[in-house]
Order: sequence, then structure tokens, then C-alpha cells
Amino acid sequence: MKNSNFPSISIVGATGAVGKICLDILNERDYPVEKINLFASSRSAGKKIIYGSSEIIVKEATKNSFEDSDVVFISADSSVSLNLAPSAVESGALVIDDGSAFRMKEDVPLVVPEVNESDINFHKGIISIPNCTTTPLVMALDRLRRLSKINRIQATTYQAVSGSGSMAVSELHEQTKNILNNEEISKSVYPHQIAFSLIPQVDEFMPDGYTKEEHKMINETRKILHDNNLKISATCVRVPIYYCHSEVVSVDLEDEINVNEIIEVFRSASGIKLIGDGLNEDYPTPSFVQGKDEIYIGRIRKDSSNQKGINFWIVSDNLRKGAALNAIQIMDSSIKLGKIPKFR
Ligand SMILES: NC(=O)c1ccc[n+]([C@@H]2O[C@H](COP(=O)([O-])OP(=O)(O)OC[C@H]3O[C@@H](n4cnc5c(N)ncnc54)[C@H](OP(=O)(O)O)[C@@H]3O)[C@@H](O)[C@H]2O)c1
Repeated sequence: MKNSNFPSISIVGATGAVGKICLDILNERDYPVEKINLFASSRSAGKKIIYGSSEIIVKEATKNSFEDSDVVFISADSSVSLNLAPSAVESGALVIDDGSAFRMKEDVPLVVPEVNESDINFHKGIISIPNCTTTPLVMALDRLRRLSKINRIQATTYQAVSGSGSMAVSELHEQTKNILNNEEISKSVYPHQIAFSLIPQVDEFMPDGYTKEEHKMINETRKILHDNNLKISATCVRVPIYYCHSEVVSVDLEDEINVNEIIEVFRSASGIKLIGDGLNEDYPTPSFVQGKDEIYIGRIRKDSSNQKGINFWIVSDNLRKGAALNAIQIMDSSIKLGKIPKFR
């Protein structure tokens, strides 16, 4: 049992897009911690990162890095999570993993606290956060299903390049400069030019013609909403903006629900915001939502081809609610529920 009242936190991937925002949020909130350890690959070992009034030196993450950690956030790729998470769990820490390595494992809760906080109770050392497009979608669907059974969902995404990490942000930046200067572009993160274009492919293709990202949205939504038979399909598109993912969502409900009731159910939800009534020009944009904690919903209207259908537009900051903020909220909920092994 620990003496300190505050958790000792480690962030693996502290130099990456999500890791940096995780540290920013802890700093903005003046989060009470015993200690923060920052880890990345050997390439970043020795780098200094400013945290509040102190400077933290980044260390190379190894299996022995987590002896004094209560909570380990892993924000690197799946191979890093698969390699490091088991040793962090063995040393008694709670791992909150941002990647896809464990999301669909039966004994790993996949959590958006506003929707399924109590799933934290069944963790065996690892809790995953969903994909950054799944999180806002399930927040909206969870509210709608309080009004009526959901029969079918179709979602189309417009995903910012920061969803592919900091290298992708640089690729969009460089290609934009190149094109404006009439220079050749180079590509390494994406298979096609992203600057001044769109790519209707996020992650690799699966045998059924969907991409892995689309599968993630479908399967993760079913897991979080505890409904394996939910009818849902998705199309994921990469767009040339730096931050915030947007989604067009069409939902067929079992009952005919008035738009005003839908506005009210979204307006009263924790973590969801509307601008004005969420109708007509009261819509959110990525540039407006960047840096905000809540997901924003707008363009709420009846489906003109189905009187029991509803269409709307969601924008959320993929690095905040789509990743780092959701992970920190999971830590808060785990503390509240007494589910951090070394910290009760
Ligand atoms: N970006 C998003 O919107 C988003 C949303 C939800 C979930 N996620 C997930 O979050 C994770 C991180 O994404 P990101 O966008 O932050 O990626 P990123 O910007 O590419 O950052 C990757 C981080 O992983 C570190 N890393 C690489 N190899 C490592 C190793 N062997 N040991 C320890 N650390 C290592 C990197 O350190 P170096 O600097 O030393 O290379 C860097 O800090 C991914 O699993 C992603 O799927 C991302």
C-alpha cells in the first residue's frame, strides 16, 4: 500500500502527439501527482521536457521502468504496448493504453467514462481507450439510445492528420509548403498526397473492402455499448487539416423522435456541447473545437428519406477527448472506483 495520497504516473510516448497533450492536460489541471516519469524510444532518451516549473528528462522505456508507477499511460504503437504493458502490470501498475493492441481483448475494458465507466471494475491491469473516432460516436449514440432503440448507424469521418501521429503533421506541413512553392512533394506516412487533397483510406484494407480503421469503429462501438448485434457501418476519410476529427452520422431509430427531444438529450449530456440549438448555422468546425475538452454536435435534423432517422455532425479534438483526455478521465474514474492496484 502507498504512503502518498497521489499517484505516481509514467507516460510512455511522452515525445509523441498524444503523450505531449497528456502532459499538457495534467499541467493545465495542476494534477496532484507524487511523481511523473517520461519515457520514449532510445532516440529521445536525454531530451528535456518542461512540466510546469520543472524540467523532466525523458528516459528510454524498458520492461524495468515501472517499479515505482501506479499508473502507466502507453501512447506509442501496438508493438510497444505488447512489449511493455505486461511488465508494467506485473510490477503492480494500472496500464491505460491508447493504442489498439488490447482493445478487443475480452478481459480488457474499453472505456469512455461518460458511457461505460463501470466496465473499469473488471480490469485485470490494462484498460484501453477507443479509437479517436469511436469515442465521440459512442458518446452521441449512448444518449440517443435513451430515447429509442437504435436500429442502424452509418458514419463517415473526416480525420485530421494528427490522428496518424506527429510525423503525419510534418508531412502535411511539408507538402503544403512544397506545393505552394511549386516543388516536388514527398510521401512517407500516407500512400497519396494529403495536402490540398483527401484520402478515402485510413489504415490498411481488410479482405471485406473496409479498412482497419472502419473495422475499429464498428467493433469498438459494439463493445462499448455492449451490443454485439448493433448494425453499424463506417467510411473513414483522411482530410488535410492538422487537428480534430469530424463525423457525419445517420442513425435509424426504432421510434419517431422529435428533433427538440434529441437536442435536449445531447444538451444535457456530460462531455457533449451544442452551439446554440445545434441547428442550421449553429455548427462546430475543427478550428473552433481544437483544444476543447467536449465533443461538439451540430447540423441536427431529420433524415429526409426516413422519418425515424436522424442525421448530425460531430467534431472532437482527437488528441484530447479522442486520446489523452479520455485516458486521464479513466485514471480519475479508476481512483474513484478504487481500481488502481497499488493506490487504494
Ligand atoms: N493521434 C491520435 O489522435 C490518437 C488518438 C487515439 C489513440 N492514438 C494512439 O496513441 C498512440 C500514440 O499515437 P501518437 O499519435 O502520439 O503517435 P506519435 O506522435 O507517432 O508518437 C509515438 C510515440 O511513441 C514513442 N515510441 C516509439 N517507439 C518507442 C519504443 N520502442 N519505446 C517507447 N516509446 C516509443 C515515440 O518516441 P520517439 O519520439 O522516441 O520516437 C513517441 O513518443 C498510438 O497507439 C495511436 O494509435 C492516437
